[in-house]
Amino acid sequence: MPEFKTLDSIDVAGKRVLVRLDLNVPMKNGKVTDATRIERAAPTIVALVSKSAKVIVMSHFGRPDGKRVPEMSLRPLVEPLAKAIGKPVAFADDCIGELAEDAVRALKPGDVLLLENLRFHKEEEKNDKDFIDKLAKLGDAYIYDAFSTAHRAHASTEGLANRLPAAAGLLMQAELEALDKALGNPSRPVCAVVGGAKVSTKLDLLGNLVGKVDKLIIGGGMANTFLFAQGAEVGKSLCEKDLAATAREIMDKAAKSKCQVLLPVDVVVAGEFKANAVHKVVDARQCPADQMILDVGPKSVELYEKELEDCRTLVWNGPLGAFEMTPFDGGTVALARHVAQLTGERKLISVAGGGDTVAALAAAGVEEKFSYVSTAGGAFLEWMEGKTLPGVAALIRAA
Ligand code: 3PG
Ligand code: MG
Repeated sequence: MPEFKTLDSIDVAGKRVLVRLDLNVPMKNGKVTDATRIERAAPTIVALVSKSAKVIVMSHFGRPDGKRVPEMSLRPLVEPLAKAIGKPVAFADDCIGELAEDAVRALKPGDVLLLENLRFHKEEEKNDKDFIDKLAKLGDAYIYDAFSTAHRAHASTEGLANRLPAAAGLLMQAELEALDKALGNPSRPVCAVVGGAKVSTKLDLLGNLVGKVDKLIIGGGMANTFLFAQGAEVGKSLCEKDLAATAREIMDKAAKSKCQVLLPVDVVVAGEFKANAVHKVVDARQCPADQMILDVGPKSVELYEKELEDCRTLVWNGPLGAFEMTPFDGGTVALARHVAQLTGERKLISVAGGGDTVAALAAAGVEEKFSYVSTAGGAFLEWMEGKTLPGVAALIRAA
């Protein structure tokens, strides 16, 4: 895989180290509802503290569009971060200027400071040179530990990596190594599972994957578009009929690349989009006119499980059905558990990512049992699309 500097290759003792994390975590009424991103980033901070660095943490939160939006302050993250690293965290009310500079000056080796939301300044998202200079003034080195922001060429991601001695943090390193094992240099055969509602949001992703993987399982609402493109009846199902030709092109590209596409053979249908709606299993080509497809059926899951028998690597993005409503989470849960089992038996390397995907795996109780679950949403998708992530590219350039 491409080379980048890691935490061990950069001298941090007594130095001011700017660390970019992604503390953009789900919150409700000022309380963090899912601390995963904080917990996964904590080891980097702990390592820097133990090396006597002066640690200055930067992050964005939400999309305040360059304005100081009080509900998007990072102050409520001080306690959760302190808890995750097991030591107090100071806070500066701004990420640049006198407030930030004074707070940095007060740091002793091993201290940790959190700066206010970077996106309170519109220059952050513009990757503005003066703003990069103002951030760079606060540190002697830069550690990038927010893979989930690597699709953004912002001042605190790409900008600083180009400006200061830069290295990847432990989480960034783990993410990149896991992703490389999944699609960069995978053990073959590789199977991708792609679900989610719409083909339109995942065209680039499907186009890239069919050229790279050996098997592609398509589920979720987007499978309906593929079924429709092959002449199936889809009833009232979610289906992008105008994308039928595109779906056929993807199938053609897959055939040329010797990628086997697996669509559902049976589906769970119901008359309404509602939890516990009256439902039945039908042939995937024959959804009744007054019904909609809400999940893959048991025969489909059986087929996928059989197709996974000879696979060595699996990469998963998107649920196979309307997983947020019982019983339409059934297909996703069953396949996720099977993947978890194969992973446990060391028959499969399994990597998953993307917002809904992680929620679906957590609901199936298997999040811990995959080889790697990414903390990234949008960045994971862009990586699966085969795009260059500017934040990662900058780290590689800096090496
Ligand atoms: C995310 O939650 O996906 C990242 O924090 C990036 O946030 P953004 O989509 O607002 O850039
Ligand atoms: Mg996002």
